Amino acid sequence: MTTPAHHYARANAESFINQLCDLLRIPSISTQTHHAADVQRAAEWLIADMRRIGLTAELHQAEGFLPLVYGEWLGAGEDAPTVLIYSHYDVQPAVKSDGWDTEPFEPTRIDGKIYARGALDSKIHTIAHLKALESALATNSLPVNVKLLFEGEEESASTHIVQFVHANADKLKSDVIVISDGSMPDQDQPVLVYGLRGLTQLEVTVTGPHRDLHSGHYGGTVHNPLQALIEILGKLHDEQGHVTVDGFYDDVRPISAEERATLAEIGAWTAREWQIVANAPQVWGEPEFALHERIGARPTLEINGMAGGFYEQGFKTVIPHKAWAKISCRLVPDQDGTVIARRVIDALQKHTPPTVQITIEHDPANDSSGVLLDYQSESMQAVIRAYELGWGRKPLLNREGGSVPVVASIQQALTGELVLMPFGYKGGGAHSTNEFIYESMFQRGIATVLHFYQILADG
Ligand code: BES
Ligand code: MN
Repeated sequence: MTTPAHHYARANAESFINQLCDLLRIPSISTQTHHAADVQRAAEWLIADMRRIGLTAELHQAEGFLPLVYGEWLGAGEDAPTVLIYSHYDVQPAVKSDGWDTEPFEPTRIDGKIYARGALDSKIHTIAHLKALESALATNSLPVNVKLLFEGEEESASTHIVQFVHANADKLKSDVIVISDGSMPDQDQPVLVYGLRGLTQLEVTVTGPHRDLHSGHYGGTVHNPLQALIEILGKLHDEQGHVTVDGFYDDVRPISAEERATLAEIGAWTAREWQIVANAPQVWGEPEFALHERIGARPTLEINGMAGGFYEQGFKTVIPHKAWAKISCRLVPDQDGTVIARRVIDALQKHTPPTVQITIEHDPANDSSGVLLDYQSESMQAVIRAYELGWGRKPLLNREGGSVPVVASIQQALTGELVLMPFGYKGGGAHSTNEFIYESMFQRGIATVLHFYQILADG
């Protein structure tokens, strides 16, 4: 099934890649305030492109937040379905000295890949949707109404968009909501994601003596805060990798036998991808769950970072007075971030000996819940057919381990049927060095979106 819009997309493939590269050159890093002007520039780039291809577009900027880009085209008429598409255009930090082979904000094309920060997470999605729209509008063949919502602070907090979604439910009204984010374990095997995990984050500080001490003068009499922190954190998992926090798994929705069977097909792909990308000496974690189940359907508790003491060149025989750790939990339905955070705090306090003090910070505003969609729903079935046409191969189903904080709010505040639409390659180094996408996945993504419009319109 090739439509004029597909022809247009193919004829303009090279130009579309160049436009993606233009956006990739803008370091729209939302987690570093000195890049706020770059995030702004990326937002303006998107607004300009939306207007150029025939959408109305506006920038929503609340005091103290990064811009949110909204565009719409309602020319298909009231009887046609309306699709709301969410993506994010902000990125994680990157500098070449982190270990990149190329400049992270100078997109580099090598062997059908594009290397750049934000290529996979998530500008491939933003631009694939814009260029699919352009292809349909330029050929007068867009059969649905489209609303675009592009976020500029997904990588930092998503605070503004959560408020925006609740305050603008009417404006964002649609029949289908597409969250375009995520990835698949192989460029040629499409995968439809129907689950994401949620997240809750905690900062831990352990203090002991009121200043750093000579370890010769005081060693053996003071409980070293770094050691205490390690002992406390060491009690949060058992030897098999289960989280030992009381009640941690109480609300976890079990995987049904039917879902387990559906998911089993992704197992080999996940295991292969794990070998290539994670490539740790051995697999670790809850032995009674398969790898893809541990990643998609089970909650975790991770230590994301620890600091304290002396780590510069040479030695310093010291007992540090303080130690820090950052902890996060990935959550699955029906866990509640704030409840889980409370249980982790209780466990940390319970494990803290009287020889040190602990303080724990947690901001419930940053908690997000896991999402699980019904892959039998009409819209999901439409996505499945669209991928089949776009990739020429039937998609597998998967639950992803990452989080898109706004999704739970969208689910609460808006009425449309939710679907996920990933175009990235999981091994493409999101948040890491040498992030890349396959150009082929960008092209197939555009084709898939065009098929999706058509399938929705045909009912
Ligand atoms: N694109 C990811 C989310 C994602 C990752 C979805 C893998 C599906 C599979 C997103 O940009 C992201 O990195 N989210 C953060 C959220 C955090 C910064 C609040 C995450 O998952 O760590
Ligand atoms: Mn990300």
